Amino acid sequence: MLASTLDTTVTCAIMVTAYAGIAIFADIFLFLVKVTYFIVEGTFRIFFPVEEKSVAGEIVLITGAGHGIGRELALQYASLGAKIVCWDLNEKSNNETAEEIKRANVASAVYTYKCDVTNREEVFRVSENVRKEVGDVTILVNNAGIMPCRTLLDHTPEEIRKIFDVNVIAHFWTLQAFLPSMIEKNHGHVVALSSMAGISGLPNLVPYCGSKFAVRGLMEATALELRDLMATKEMNIKFTCVFPYMVDTGLCKKPKVRFPSIMSLLPPKVAATEIVRAQRRNIPEASIPGIFFHVNNVARNFPTKVGLLLRDFLDSGVEAD
Ligand SMILES: NC(=O)c1ccc[n+]([C@@H]2O[C@H](COP(=O)([O-])OP(=O)(O)OC[C@H]3O[C@@H](n4cnc5c(N)ncnc54)[C@H](O)[C@@H]3O)[C@@H](O)[C@H]2O)c1
Ligand SMILES: *[C@@H]1O[C@H](CO)[C@@H](O)[C@H](O)[C@H]1NC(C)=O
Repeated sequence: MLASTLDTTVTCAIMVTAYAGIAIFADIFLFLVKVTYFIVEGTFRIFFPVEEKSVAGEIVLITGAGHGIGRELALQYASLGAKIVCWDLNEKSNNETAEEIKRANVASAVYTYKCDVTNREEVFRVSENVRKEVGDVTILVNNAGIMPCRTLLDHTPEEIRKIFDVNVIAHFWTLQAFLPSMIEKNHGHVVALSSMAGISGLPNLVPYCGSKFAVRGLMEATALELRDLMATKEMNIKFTCVFPYMVDTGLCKKPKVRFPSIMSLLPPKVAATEIVRAQRRNIPEASIPGIFFHVNNVARNFPTKVGLLLRDFLDSGVEAD
């Protein structure tokens, strides 16, 4: 009697183990099938990219819209029929962006707000005004940024904190202000301006590089966190982090370029067009030009000395202000 019970128990245990084994094999098999599918799909998408989604009627908020890339983004989103909300510290230049949009005679509405994005209370107060006067922001573009260039030992503590406040900490405040309504509707897009200096460290830009590397981390983590939060639904809040090479906005005061014919500063218009394209294609990470991201990914697999050799050969960066 006892023996037969024992037998049954042993048989059961074997079956459970066998079943678990088969389940793992099935899991691994499915995993490999999906990996293959995604590789084929990814390769296909290099040649036939997904269609750019419409942004007509979306409410696009751009921080630092008064100058440079931010202003160009405002103009281009306006020409695509989005409602534009311009935020900047500088009221005058922010107004000029709005004037330029109105002069371009596009049908879309434009609103301007003075806001210092490093001030959490101000971000929340102004975002409440935006909600009342314009509506829920559906595309948030964290663009405002500063870039003082000097050696680390020449940076003052105030300047180092300021760089992080504008380039990184401000993203947390705007995300906390605008994500709730996106989550509620499961609709939205967050775009963040990192930089090639957020992929590859550069002399005279130690705090700036630190801040731009941080932007990449916070964007990836937020996207994954929301994906978990939305586990039951198809996640429809997208994240796009862009890494532009030097852009001709005046932000880079003393650029250094060895091969101007292939690596000259990008016109702000071109940078903005690429950013809008990446956003409309739901691309999570894109360098501008696109190839730089891949060059970096490949180079990082080689011995460190090869990376340094490539750096010295290209000899591109910024001098101290
Ligand atoms: N220009 C480049 O070479 C380059 C390259 C890669 C990435 N980027 C990034 O792109 C973004 C835009 O750069 P840009 O060259 O257009 O700069 P820009 O200096 O031309 O414009 C930045 C705008 O942000 C505003 N701003 C600054 N601090 C602010 C604050 N605390 N609150 C609100 N607004 C504030 C400024 O008033 C200005 O209008 C930045 O994040 C920058 O780091 C620039
Ligand atoms: C900017 O525009 C707003 C609203 O049109 C106006 O109240 C403000 O005085 C303007 N500011 C500057 C500095 O031009």
